[in-house]
Amino acid sequence: MKKKIVFLTGAGVSAESGISTFRDSDGLWENYNVMDVCSAAGFRRNPALVHEFYNARRRQLSEVEPNEAHRAIARLMDHYDVFVVTQNVDNLHERGGVPSDRIIHLHGELMKVRAVNDESKVYELQSELSETTTETLIDGHHVRPHIVFFQEAVPMLEPAAEIVARADVLVIIGTSLVVYPAAGLVNYVRRDARIFYIDPHPAAVPSRVHVIAATATEGMNILMDELRDL
Ligand code: APR
Repeated sequence: MKKKIVFLTGAGVSAESGISTFRDSDGLWENYNVMDVCSAAGFRRNPALVHEFYNARRRQLSEVEPNEAHRAIARLMDHYDVFVVTQNVDNLHERGGVPSDRIIHLHGELMKVRAVNDESKVYELQSELSETTTETLIDGHHVRPHIVFFQEAVPMLEPAAEIVARADVLVIIGTSLVVYPAAGLVNYVRRDARIFYIDPHPAAVPSRVHVIAATATEGMNILMDELRDL
């Protein structure tokens, strides 16, 4: 029976692919007002701005590649029962080799949109260059980014918590752990499970967490050595 490793990832795992994080210096939230482009109120106030913001982030996806950390996570599937719970909306975990049925996107996905008036109608965009506007109609519906905005519920939280609760090892990579409920997932870990946290500028975490103060790619190499001793 393979040990279960759950990765809880944030923007830092995609930093070395060239996608800026949110809260580092010169991060996304330094250049945009988060409440204008990533909140329910902001979308109601100026949907065109929100469509353009996500069109720009989607275009950037077409210019970047998964990095060695994304690929190292996928390679671990040879020896472990791997699952990825990510706060990221990019598709780099998928493009790095983790099948989509082994990934939960807590905050939605850049490559998907959904009907404004029926959240159950979700559509996959065919290309990173696909653009949406307030006029776009799919299947007769006006659409919006399939992103969990601030002030909106996180529908995948429950399944994510159940997966974290079954983990033998939880590996947190590249997140400032300031956004809830995602950050609260750490509390669902079994008492006998190991927790690692890979981040060059780690947030304060309980002493049971083994902090690896390194980038995602360096940290994954260090993690491999640690896992051999498990
Ligand atoms: N490797 C690993 N971690 C890195 C790297 C790197 N090369 N570079 C930066 N980091 C770390 C930073 O030290 C920081 O702890 O990545 C983390 C990024 O934190 P945030 O920018 O806050 O991103 P994240 O935690 O994913 O944000 C959570 O906030 O804005 C919302 O919905 C958005 O999903 C996002 C959520």
